[in-house]
Amino acid sequence: MKVRHIAAAILAATFAASCGGPQTTTNKETGLKDAVGDKFLIGTALNVFQSSGQDTNAVKVVKKHFNAIVAENCMKMEEVHPSEDVYTFDKADQFIKFGEENGLTMTGHCLIWHSQCPEWFFVDKDGKQVSPEVLKQRMKDHIYTVAQHFKGKLKGWDVVNEAIVEDGSYRKSKFYEILGEEFIPLAFQYAHEADPDVELYYNDYGMDNEGRRNGVVKLIRTLKERGLRIDAVGMQGHMGMDYPKIEEFEKSMLAFAAEGVKVMITEWDMSALPTASRTANISDTVAFKKALNPYPDALPDSVSQVWNARMKQFFNLFEKHADIVDRVTAWGVSDGDSWKNGFPIRGRRDYPLLFDRNYQPKPFVSEIIKENQTSNK
Ligand code: G3I
Repeated sequence: MKVRHIAAAILAATFAASCGGPQTTTNKETGLKDAVGDKFLIGTALNVFQSSGQDTNAVKVVKKHFNAIVAENCMKMEEVHPSEDVYTFDKADQFIKFGEENGLTMTGHCLIWHSQCPEWFFVDKDGKQVSPEVLKQRMKDHIYTVAQHFKGKLKGWDVVNEAIVEDGSYRKSKFYEILGEEFIPLAFQYAHEADPDVELYYNDYGMDNEGRRNGVVKLIRTLKERGLRIDAVGMQGHMGMDYPKIEEFEKSMLAFAAEGVKVMITEWDMSALPTASRTANISDTVAFKKALNPYPDALPDSVSQVWNARMKQFFNLFEKHADIVDRVTAWGVSDGDSWKNGFPIRGRRDYPLLFDRNYQPKPFVSEIIKENQTSNK
């Protein structure tokens, strides 16, 4: 059990004893955070309806089951920095207020990302691409202003998101096009200068992929060789019924930890739908859409059982490596909140998260709670 978790467990037990409540957290009201809180932080992404308190059903689930949160969108570049001289922190500040009021550990997502990055970032007033010097200054201004605005509120930042592709090379984003590989060390340097106390993470998807794994290992080494702070790697954990292979995912967890950083599962979800791709035998859109949205009313029990078993398998993997895993975060509270309902086509119905559309825990979540209640006795 990690030191910080022992302290928390003692505090909880003392509090419970003083209130005449149960001496342990094994009462029937046990939430996921009570069950696994001694292993790693268990979190969820929040949308603005949840962090503003409007989605009361989701808020109830968050309070009972999670001890960590991350903003799904409201801290991203286009949201907080819509134009060069304008910063808008109102939604993000509401997120922080929600986290502080509920004693939740918070992560910032994300300082530098090629997606949801405002157009103005890379062009001058005449619409021409900016020079490396101008882009460096804009990155520095953005990171300093945002990191200093949230100083003391966050445990860590996703400093750079999704910069390495499947073969381990750098994504040909505008950041890369203008600054080359240098943009990543610069981002980590600026973040640390702006807030020397906050943890710094590199975050990406498809981290089971060997090429990307090797690319991220190389990046960690580069940052460390240059004396730059990197505390952890975020493995997003967007999964399907047939990807990733758990053995490859585990290899990557161990490869990153071997470089002296912690591992976080930062955006965990698992599509319960077939990974449909437009193949020769799906030539027309209607058939393609049916293939992409096969369970518009409810998930068949047969599929739900396979999905729950596969989710449990991965959760057990995270528990097995609790010594290197600092946090497991789901990318949304309940199935109805998930971005997967709109990707790869809008209007489909997926079942990828830990709580269903009635805000009830999926069977594997109840099993995890029960298993840990027994072991905590
Ligand atoms: O807020 C506006 C709303 O005012 C407007 O009416 C509406 C019109 O469509 O758009 C709303 O913004 C949407 C935003 O989500 C908030 O709902 C954006 O269009 C939409 O693109 C955005 O999608 C987000 C996506 O990142 C953007 O790339 C998803 O919610 C979010 O789950 C997803 O999260 C990313 C992680 O940040 C990084 N890793 C991958 C993950 C999934 O793509």
